[in-house]
Amino acid sequence: MGPHKVQEAFEPPKPVSDPAHQPLIIGSGIAGLFVALRCRELGLRPTLVTKTTLEESNTRYAQGGIATALGDDDSVELHWQDTRNAGDGLVDPEAARVLTFEAPARIADLVRFGVPFDTVDGKIALGREAAHSRARILHAGGDATGFQVEETLRSRALAEGIEVLERTVLRSVDVSTGGPTVILSTHGRGEVRVAGRPIVLATGGAGSLYRQSSNPSVATGDGIAIAFRAGALLTDMEFVQFHPTAFAREGAPRFLITEALRGEGALLTTLRGERFLKGRLAQGELSTRDVVCRAICDELGHSGAGWVLLDATAIPRDRLFARFPTVCRFLATYGLDPSRDPIPVAPAAHYTIGGVATDLEARTSLPGVLACGELASTGVHGANRLASNSLLEGLVFGERAVRQLLHPAPGGPKPPARLVRIRLDPGEGHDEPGRILPRVGELLWAQVGIVRNGPGLAEAGRELGRIQRECEPRSGELAGRGANATLTARIITRAALAREESRGAHYRSDFPRPRAAWRRTLGIAMGARRAGPLA
Ligand code: SIN
Repeated sequence: MGPHKVQEAFEPPKPVSDPAHQPLIIGSGIAGLFVALRCRELGLRPTLVTKTTLEESNTRYAQGGIATALGDDDSVELHWQDTRNAGDGLVDPEAARVLTFEAPARIADLVRFGVPFDTVDGKIALGREAAHSRARILHAGGDATGFQVEETLRSRALAEGIEVLERTVLRSVDVSTGGPTVILSTHGRGEVRVAGRPIVLATGGAGSLYRQSSNPSVATGDGIAIAFRAGALLTDMEFVQFHPTAFAREGAPRFLITEALRGEGALLTTLRGERFLKGRLAQGELSTRDVVCRAICDELGHSGAGWVLLDATAIPRDRLFARFPTVCRFLATYGLDPSRDPIPVAPAAHYTIGGVATDLEARTSLPGVLACGELASTGVHGANRLASNSLLEGLVFGERAVRQLLHPAPGGPKPPARLVRIRLDPGEGHDEPGRILPRVGELLWAQVGIVRNGPGLAEAGRELGRIQRECEPRSGELAGRGANATLTARIITRAALAREESRGAHYRSDFPRPRAAWRRTLGIAMGARRAGPLA
């Protein structure tokens, strides 16, 4: 890769009255689209940047829904409590309060934008998911919630004439001269440097770095790596949430089989049809995802099989097909009818709990750079995200990002209680994603997965370090996809190695219990290697 030629402005140039009012929003999932629409409503002139097309994002595949306390028997306080309980001692109570208390107002925004939530007797229908004490999951099109939200917001953004740059990849962020300067690379049009505009990072998580993942291939965590390269503080990177029930058949994608099916009564069984959670987990099929995943791993260890079964045959057929059309359509392509056939399932990487550290106003540690959605680490999920809180997080902290864009004020994330530094040296620049991504995916799945241990993490870290020396750019060049993927994987691995306990989604077989000394947030930042409490 040679030195970079950078244009100074987009072509054709847009009339810019005040760049501070022209935010650049990177990422077109629920967070990016929502921020763009709210900016537009409030008189800003946003540009939305997306690395493939406006349609493609993790949001589109979200089946479960959006959690919000709307039921007569529910309250925002109960939602707050459930969120804190799921997070296993690490949820930031203030962040979770913001999330749950502001949820109803953000749902009202979505209704105003035209999202067709499913209703019963004229009221929004509410479903049940694991670790929620009340039915509070809003859905649209049955199990097509993400698709319906994405389509509604996307059409509206186009109708509003919001400037959209498709097939445009964020290459770097630089805050060394004060405000942010970013380099974007548009397919077929080369690179542009954009300076002086506020940046909202909403590039999503890193789930698809794992060999087995419920995420689309765009979810490679490149925004996390790019922010880190710019000097951003990351937190909670060791917490990767695995989903217990992704479709498991040789050669098939690990398509999500929504937890809402278990909420409706579907049961997990061995290949012989015996329930294996009953009597072992108090909440049975509706226990938190980490414990269900580990119980499935144990069962797979005993049986030697590659999957267990999710038996939804007790749910009436009409109900099954009306409530879960996406899952039923998908299964039909494999000749399965869930009203008759138990579904082969196994865990898959699903959600990146950590990411770019932010405060309650979506401010990162980089001046002029805000972050929201899965990329951001707000502290709302703690060590374990409560189901259907993720689309909500994009909305609630997206709104707070818009507020910051309108009335910028200084601030940023709290310093974490512990900090690990990772050193980044220039490498050989052989960035071949087709070769690197499968190696990274295999290492993460084998050594940094549902059950981890110190020696495995250390070995994975060394191997990722070797891969990084190959693909990390030479001095003065920009990092590519392989280098960013490797860096994100290395960060997850390093954080998982540092956290010598088990908590929430992070399970270490060599430290199988939570430890009081680790009831604290772990940060990762660039710099000379050292670990310890912050001064
Ligand atoms: C699901 O539908 O099971 C996933 C929902 C979520 O991850 O919040």
